[in-house]
Amino acid sequence: MATRSVSDPFPAEALAVRARGVTRTFGDRTVLRGIDLDIRPGEFVALLGRSGSGKSTFLRALAALDTEVTGEIFVPEQRAVGFQDPRLLPWARVLDNVVLGLPGSDSSARGLQALAEVGLADHARDWPKTLSGGEAQRAALARALVREPALLLLDEPFGALDALTRIRMHRLVAELCARHHPAVLLVTHDVDEAVVLADRVLVLTDGVISLDRPIASTFPRPRLRSDPRFAELRSELLAELGVEDDGSLTADSVPDSVPEPELVLDPQESSS
Ligand SMILES: Nc1ncnc2c1ncn2[C@@H]1O[C@H](COP(=O)(O)OP(=O)(O)OP(=O)(O)O)[C@@H](O)[C@H]1O
Ligand SMILES: [Mg+2]
Repeated sequence: MATRSVSDPFPAEALAVRARGVTRTFGDRTVLRGIDLDIRPGEFVALLGRSGSGKSTFLRALAALDTEVTGEIFVPEQRAVGFQDPRLLPWARVLDNVVLGLPGSDSSARGLQALAEVGLADHARDWPKTLSGGEAQRAALARALVREPALLLLDEPFGALDALTRIRMHRLVAELCARHHPAVLLVTHDVDEAVVLADRVLVLTDGVISLDRPIASTFPRPRLRSDPRFAELRSELLAELGVEDDGSLTADSVPDSVPEPELVLDPQESSS
C-alpha cells in the first residue's frame, strides 16, 4: 500500500488527508471501492454509513492500522485515534494512561493540563476502572489531545454513552477542536451528532462516498436541534442512508438545553 506519513512540520496549506483510490477487499467481498477524499487542516468531517458499510475499515486505513488496503493515503505523522471503547490500560493510573509513550520531560505536566481540559484534573491518580463511561472517554480524549494531533480519527467514540452524556461530550469535543484545530474524521451512526459537530458530512454507501455535504457555510454553529435547517439536513442524510425520517426523533426529543458539565475548560484556572 502507498500509505505515507508526511512528516512534521505539516505544511499549513497542504491537506490533512489526501486519499486516492482507497480499496479494501476481504476474500471475495470488496468493502471500499476506490475512495477519494481530501480533508483540509482543521476541518471536521463526519462519516455516516449503515452498519457494515466500511466506515471502520476506512478509518483504520487512514490510521495506517491496515496494511492490506490499496490506493494512496497521505496523512500527517501527528495523528491520534479514538474508539468506542476508551481502551485505557487497567494497570496504569489515569495520568499514566494519558502520557504513556509521550516523549519529553514535561510529559506529566502536559498530561495534567490535558486532563484539566477534559475536566478530569481530580482523577489523574485514579485507576481507570473507577471512572464512569463518560469520564473514561474524556480520559481517552485527553490521551489523544496531549499528542497535539494534526489529524484526529474517531470511530464512534460516544456510541456507548447515554444520551445526555453524549450531548455533553459533543460540547466538549467542539470546544477542544475549536481550541486545538486538528482535522477530524468522526465515524458515527448518529445523524444528529454529525449535524451538530461537523463542517462536512459524508455518507458511505456500497464502498463509495455517495454524499459529500458541506454544512459549515450554510448552517453556522451553534446548531440547535430546534432550527429548521437541522431537520432539513437530518432528513437529507437519513434519506441517503435509506432510512425514512418518520419524525420519531424529533427536535423535541433531545433537548437543546442540557445542564453544563462540570468541566474545567481553562487549565490555568484549575491549577490556581
Ligand atoms: N478483518 C476482516 N475480515 C473480514 N471481513 C471484514 C474484516 N473487517 C471488516 N470486515 C467486513 O467489512 C465490512 C465493513 O466492516 P466495517 O467494520 O468497516 O463496517 P462499519 O461501517 O464500521 O460498521 P458498523 O457501523 O457496524 O461499525 C463488514 O461486512 C465486515 O464484516
Ligand atoms: Mg464500525
